[in-house]
Amino acid sequence: MRILFLGDVVGRSGRDALVTHLPGLRERLGAELVVVNGENASHGFGLSPDMARAFLAAGADVITLGNHAWDRREIIPYLEEQPRVIRALNFPPGTPGRGAVEVAVGDGRRALVMQVMGRLFMDPLDDPFRTVQSELAKHRLGVTIQAAILDIHAEATSEKQAMAHSFDGMLSLVIGTHTHVPTADHRILPGGTAFQTDAGMCGDYDSVIGMQKGGAALRFWRKMPGERLAPAEGEATLCGLFVETEDSTGLARRVAALRLGGSLEAALPA
Ligand SMILES: [Fe+2]
Ligand SMILES: [Fe+2]
Repeated sequence: MRILFLGDVVGRSGRDALVTHLPGLRERLGAELVVVNGENASHGFGLSPDMARAFLAAGADVITLGNHAWDRREIIPYLEEQPRVIRALNFPPGTPGRGAVEVAVGDGRRALVMQVMGRLFMDPLDDPFRTVQSELAKHRLGVTIQAAILDIHAEATSEKQAMAHSFDGMLSLVIGTHTHVPTADHRILPGGTAFQTDAGMCGDYDSVIGMQKGGAALRFWRKMPGERLAPAEGEATLCGLFVETEDSTGLARRVAALRLGGSLEAALPA
């Protein structure tokens, strides 16, 4: 299965780049499953239902959220009607929405997409490790599902790497989101799981993690609340990972970084 994962879409610049490039990218890469993190699409904070619809129409199959899941309250009823937009699976029981979704990919193949949030330097949710373990117990990779993707939305690289190694051989892809900076460690782990500590963002990198640099820097100079943060509006770089998996095992056979447009060095899978 050819899978494209794109990191946190930030603000208008990220949204425009995604909607402009995703249809062509999907075609060019022959991507069969596209997963996009949309938690920062709405001015850096949350995702509106209209934006979710636009991403799905542009070629996203699943949209993941994160700690900004609830910033646009209108998403809450939308999550009930649109299972392809998921929030973290390790929110406490009773939280609106879902944390995992199984989608049909074509030719009867199925893919599981899930997200968990880390707990280091983040709000303490339920244990993400045991959460993934219990979700995986419901499926058989290579049998009931041909691919399984985990978005680990977390601050700490250690927690993301621990997650990847814990489930090496049991998932097709473990990919980090949330830090908005792509790491250069994308690879296939010994057990066959593709991994990247962070996918990076789809946003303007002439910024502080996607927000206008002046205002963001002032927050560090003056420890005052209320410095306004707004997304940077220059051309976005789309950042993510392309992975090819073997349907019979669900494991990865190829992994390549993707960076397109904006100010980062370009990388396009051949
Ligand atoms: Fe984010
Ligand atoms: Fe986040």
